[in-house]
Amino acid sequence: MAPNKHTPHVLIFPYPSQGPLNCMMRLAELLAISGLHVTLLNTNDTHLRLCLSSASLPAIPLLRFKSIPDGLPEDRPRDASLLRDVAESLNKNSRLLLYDLLLAMKNDEYSSDGFPPITCLISDGFFPSFVDLAEDIRLPCLSFRTPSACSMWAYLCIPKLLENGELPFGEGVDLDEVVQGVPGMEGFLRRRDLPEFFRGAKSADDPQLKFMSTVSAYSSKAKGLILNTAEVLESTSVHHIRAQIPVTYALGPLHAILDSYRSARSCTDASSHTSSLWQEDTECLKWLDLQTDNSVVYVSFGSFTTLTQEEFHELFFGLINSGHKILWVLRPDMVQGLAWTDEIKRALPEEQGRIISWTPQQKVLAHRAVGCFVTHSGWNSTLESIVEGVPMLCWPFFLDQQINSRFVSEIWRVGLDMKDIRNRDLVEKMVREMMEGESAARFRKSARDLADAVKESISDGGSSFREFHRLIEDIKSMSI
Ligand code: UDX
Repeated sequence: MAPNKHTPHVLIFPYPSQGPLNCMMRLAELLAISGLHVTLLNTNDTHLRLCLSSASLPAIPLLRFKSIPDGLPEDRPRDASLLRDVAESLNKNSRLLLYDLLLAMKNDEYSSDGFPPITCLISDGFFPSFVDLAEDIRLPCLSFRTPSACSMWAYLCIPKLLENGELPFGEGVDLDEVVQGVPGMEGFLRRRDLPEFFRGAKSADDPQLKFMSTVSAYSSKAKGLILNTAEVLESTSVHHIRAQIPVTYALGPLHAILDSYRSARSCTDASSHTSSLWQEDTECLKWLDLQTDNSVVYVSFGSFTTLTQEEFHELFFGLINSGHKILWVLRPDMVQGLAWTDEIKRALPEEQGRIISWTPQQKVLAHRAVGCFVTHSGWNSTLESIVEGVPMLCWPFFLDQQINSRFVSEIWRVGLDMKDIRNRDLVEKMVREMMEGESAARFRKSARDLADAVKESISDGGSSFREFHRLIEDIKSMSI
């Protein structure tokens, strides 16, 4: 049937950094494979980087790509340090541009490429202005918070923590004390497991606290909230969030759902495109092929974490001293004040491993040679590791990472959390615990069991599978 103005057409707008982009690209691809028209709107810079670094963008008939300026001067490098500026600029400077674009796409009867007018928006939850824009032009808007449900729930509890007097912390408090203001986590969530900026807050007026509290509550103004999680992982948080935001879809892990869709449809090009913003070094897979099972420690801290030189040295010597083989992702902008030279790449003795700038991470984690993942506990990395049954050694930095790593060690028991203590001796000790003897066998068994439970939830009839189909049906009924 030819498209008409009621044909569901979703415009998806991701936050312009790797983790959220991966999540939203996967959702875009899944919705398009499921028969909805989808436009993925990126910033010009992200779009250009995607085109330069990916083997190809997915060529799916109902999926198209568009881009807009992010409002910052063109010559500003969009490296790790500028991400907040980009988001702020998009919320403020690009508002008018977005308004005009959305209105045109809503009113256009048919665009030249045969796509119908847009009928629904899905925007990253960190763009509250998008929810208002959508209201102004009378389009239904869903908010997608790409980090964990447990972190979203902690942000929604900021008012309660303030009311309880549990925030701000004040000077010299015991960071190991358990907090009571996040219902469902009273037994295990310590002050040090709350998002790192909670520690710096001096008063209830702290700008970051206010921003995160407001942005999180804003999701309730949207028609629904999408979370990339599975109930089997975060049922308590999802349950509490639903009490405040009743239309909440817990439909992850999206990358695993996409993989199963691709294999069910025997997509032959399944691995030929990625949403990587960096060129992937696929040679590392050949190196992994030469290693024995579970013998390699994979180290990666995502797309915008940076390390001080001191942290870099502690990690470096801790890893070397463990004596295990290492595959380490060090982005060129990753170590503050240290130029990424051949010297760094050669710093690791050849026989002990490889330092490279970017990997095809999902394939690395799926490789039989990888025995544990030293991670910053970014949510996508955490989910990818869980699905592959790879135990994690967590070195969290900011935002949701502190709480994700607590769940890894205390709730799912698939790893260790070296939060706040960053020295070479602890790195060495924990790497050994993750890689050697009975403790390693225990972690691997728990990780395999958790992977099975999560895979169950995305299979036919599982909770994430049902939630994904509920989302599709709701988008269709919003489009009428
Ligand atoms: C950020 C925050 O760090 C994180 O806490 C939050 O949950 C989402 O936003 P990021 O730091 O990029 O994301 O981490 P993460 O969410 O783990 O995403 C990184 C993505 O990059 C993963 O999908 C991972 O597979 C991919 N990646 C990473 C690669 O493809 N290759 C690499 O070498 C490293």
